Amino acid sequence: MRNIGIIGGTGPQGKGLAYRFALAGHAVAIGSRSAERSAQTAYELNERLGGGTAVHGTTNAGAAVFCDVAVLAVPYQGFAEVLAGLAPRLEGKTAVCCVNPLGFDRQGAYGLYVPEGSAAEQAASVLSGSAVAAAFHNVSAVRLRDDDGPLEDTDILVAGDDPDAKEVAMGLAAAVTGRAGVDAGALRNARILEQLTAVLIAVNKNYKVNAGIAVSGLAPGARDRAAAA
Ligand SMILES: NC(=O)c1ccc[n+]([C@@H]2O[C@H](COP(=O)([O-])OP(=O)(O)OC[C@H]3O[C@@H](n4cnc5c(N)ncnc54)[C@H](OP(=O)(O)O)[C@@H]3O)[C@@H](O)[C@H]2O)c1
Repeated sequence: MRNIGIIGGTGPQGKGLAYRFALAGHAVAIGSRSAERSAQTAYELNERLGGGTAVHGTTNAGAAVFCDVAVLAVPYQGFAEVLAGLAPRLEGKTAVCCVNPLGFDRQGAYGLYVPEGSAAEQAASVLSGSAVAAAFHNVSAVRLRDDDGPLEDTDILVAGDDPDAKEVAMGLAAAVTGRAGVDAGALRNARILEQLTAVLIAVNKNYKVNAGIAVSGLAPGARDRAAAA
């Protein structure tokens, strides 16, 4: 079991992932700019988990110190400052980035230009002492919160250049879907995973759903074999 620090853990995505990770037996620190806000979020999650202390609230810096795996779940706006502040504390650790750099206009959501190519590649560039993977971009916070069991109709696509970080993220995916994540190639593919969320947001609007991604054609057990390899 891992110590997971959620950077930006008071938002819907961080909170939903924290719930799933704690339910799977991991120890979770909710990070925030406000220790008071994260304490409230931790309290709510522990209540929902039936009591106990699996989740605790702290600052983003505190979550970075506590964790062996940080999940980056802040908005892209403000991401650069958050990364710069955390870099020394995340040295030698794994960071999993689920940040989607999206803008919104009258036509809906669209991918923002990121000089490094993607938020995850930006994270890898700033967190040069950490192993970075990209995951959880295409899973809806609403489903993380509201669905009772594992999201069995959903795959978590994982991109990364560091095999260990990728394996960690593929393993953590099991806390959400009940099975390992799908290896989606190099970290540069994170730009596609991030921008794909604009498509899902359009689908959500058009069909009044919380759409996700499922990969067809994989043999039973293939995901778990890939994660273990
Ligand atoms: N929502 C989804 O369904 C979903 C799905 C997939 C991926 N994502 C991605 O996951 C990330 C988090 O999504 P979210 O919907 O949970 O976002 P959010 O609610 O807008 O933000 C998450 C948390 O980040 C902190 N935060 C906000 N602005 C900040 C800033 N300028 N600098 C530092 N921290 C800031 C806030 O916590 P404090 O005020 O407590 O510090 C906030 O509760 C985003 O990058 C999003 O693209 C979201």
